[in-house]
Amino acid sequence: MNLKDKIASIPDFPKKGIMFRDITPILADPQAMNYTTEQIADFAKKVNADLIVAPEARGFFFGTPAAMEANIGFAPVRKPGKLPRETISATYELEYGSDELQMHADAIHKGQRVLIVDDLLATGGTVEAIQKLVEQQGAKVVGFAFVIELDDLKGRDRFKDIPVFSLTHYK
Ligand code: PRP
Ligand code: ADE
Repeated sequence: MNLKDKIASIPDFPKKGIMFRDITPILADPQAMNYTTEQIADFAKKVNADLIVAPEARGFFFGTPAAMEANIGFAPVRKPGKLPRETISATYELEYGSDELQMHADAIHKGQRVLIVDDLLATGGTVEAIQKLVEQQGAKVVGFAFVIELDDLKGRDRFKDIPVFSLTHYK
């Protein structure tokens, strides 16, 4: 499967100078979606994860089916004000802006082995904030999995001791 055939590249979105990598063609193609899900689920098994944690919105597309395929649980990370019960928060920088993320305070149990999944690794600010949320709850991040990694932004350098798996790479 050449997954890059199912990733669209849009120049100057959402602002000038950004080459936006759009994963929606993967969602439209069940074979591409199956392949992506299986690859992430296999990595989850390899690192012996027992929970997948992923951020809205695009992380949900891949994190939830991969958790089902690996037969492990899923916990969502959301933007502020969306989760109905007690939350914990972390702030982070984006390639184009800054934001805050939240999880339910009881979403993760002490000692769990967590795989963080997202559609794309750019600067790594998003998943680093999620790593803080996971560790605050006494759990361990055992891996990161992405559909797309933007190599030039060197996001993986933040996580020298934790395996980072990406299905595709772009400059
Ligand atoms: C995008 C993308 C990743 C993040 C990557 O999400 O889906 O989550 O940016 O950037 P980073 O590695 O520099 O942190 P965005 O915040 O645009 O939200 P969305 O998924 O709701 O569109
Ligand atoms: N999130 C951060 N940078 C991005 C990019 N270049 N394309 C798609 N999503 C992104």
